[in-house]
Amino acid sequence: MRHFLEVDDLAPDELAHVLELAQLTPAPAVLTGRGVALIFEKPSSRTRNSSELAVFQLGGHPLTIRGEEVGFDRRESVEDVTLTLAQYHAAIGARVFDHKILERMAAVSPVPVVNLLSDLAHPCQGLADLLTLQQHFGGLSGLKVAWVGDGSNVCRSLLLAASLAGISFAAACPAGFEPDRGAVERARGRGVDVLVTGDVAEAVRGADAVCTDTWISMGQEAEEAGRRSAFRGFTVDPLVMAQAAPGAVFLHCLPAHRGEEVTGDVIDGPQSLVWPQAANRMHAFRGLLLSLFGSVL
Ligand code: CP
Ligand code: NVA
Repeated sequence: MRHFLEVDDLAPDELAHVLELAQLTPAPAVLTGRGVALIFEKPSSRTRNSSELAVFQLGGHPLTIRGEEVGFDRRESVEDVTLTLAQYHAAIGARVFDHKILERMAAVSPVPVVNLLSDLAHPCQGLADLLTLQQHFGGLSGLKVAWVGDGSNVCRSLLLAASLAGISFAAACPAGFEPDRGAVERARGRGVDVLVTGDVAEAVRGADAVCTDTWISMGQEAEEAGRRSAFRGFTVDPLVMAQAAPGAVFLHCLPAHRGEEVTGDVIDGPQSLVWPQAANRMHAFRGLLLSLFGSVL
């Protein structure tokens, strides 16, 4: 059974295929008469809407479930929730606080489990980010992506996605907020350059895309004051963008906080691709579902 808990659960050729399938129009109705359960322990605008619509576009029925409705390990065990939902649904997506819940789901599930964001990773976002870069630049291999700010779940998945696509990656993060070291080593093992630095100018020099994320992820609200002070100097502003390559673009998974991780003139300016990037969440999720179900149904 194939699950999708992190981007590199796909091999490089499989990732390229998902990006191709994401652009297939019209999409074949491979989920006719079938359901996809979408569990959310945290809020969502893009992920819920894009995944519901992608399932609908494939002829399936999306069923969004709030975390408290299933009550992982409170109402019943994670394993029993998973096995129950698998009786009805072709796949189960889940947005969870603790990544280990997804691993427990995947360990017992007879249907694919898809990570809709965890504390560790956001692989569906990574797919949409690559799709956005591919559409804009016409290809991926040889690009350089810079990350500025928190080495978050989104940063980790973009780093691993980049490594599968032959994109070099440079992250500028305050000490203590760098991307997960294991993921950095995995990416380097694929032969791409990965730089982790505290120097924003060094990271963005020559970058084709500058990317960032909120300084305070969902579940980190208690760390707000410390994070705000640690991330001072890590705002993507026009001066940062000016140090990237000519023609560089700006990406942000959203939700954004103007005046914190990015200034309004950058995110709302001509270099920003955040709206096609948000739209691509739907196309990328449809491509992923097609890769999971296209050949078996
Ligand atoms: N980018 C993203 O995952 O947005 P939501 O949290 O609104 O789903
Ligand atoms: N890092 C953010 C991403 C939101 C899409 C979070 O986990 O809240």
